[in-house]
Amino acid sequence: MKKVLLIHGPNLNLTGLREPGIYGTDTLASINAEVVDKCAKLNMDCSVFQSNSEGALIDRIHAAREDCDAIIFNAGAYTHYSYALRDAIAAVRLPCIEVHMSNVHAREEFRHHSVLAPVCAGVIAGFGKHSYLLAVDAVKAILE
Ligand code: DQA
Repeated sequence: MKKVLLIHGPNLNLTGLREPGIYGTDTLASINAEVVDKCAKLNMDCSVFQSNSEGALIDRIHAAREDCDAIIFNAGAYTHYSYALRDAIAAVRLPCIEVHMSNVHAREEFRHHSVLAPVCAGVIAGFGKHSYLLAVDAVKAILE
């Protein structure tokens, strides 16, 4: 069975409470449950990790070399400036789907650029929790 790692970066633990007009009212726990369930239906095993710390995210990406086939990653604001996360994704050479709940291109200028996108297989943004669920379809297609 293929293994998918869903990673959430900073502030995403507050999903459901944080800026609900932008990110919706579903909690991260309920979104995670939907993603895990969808993966299971597609015969994939999904584990979930969240951290507000850049170093912890890097360590988890490194560990994914041993226990994952693909990564779904919402790096939050780190998306826009973390060269360290970009290098971690490039280093492990696992397919990674960059995900955003909001349409980052319709928001502030600083959100328009991703330093991660060039080392990711693709980017899904703007569909709320469905961005994650669409990323599961993307992973399935990549791993087939
Ligand atoms: C986000 C968009 C980022 O710009 C922001 O910093 C986040 C969430 C999203 O899911 O839309 O924390 O990644």
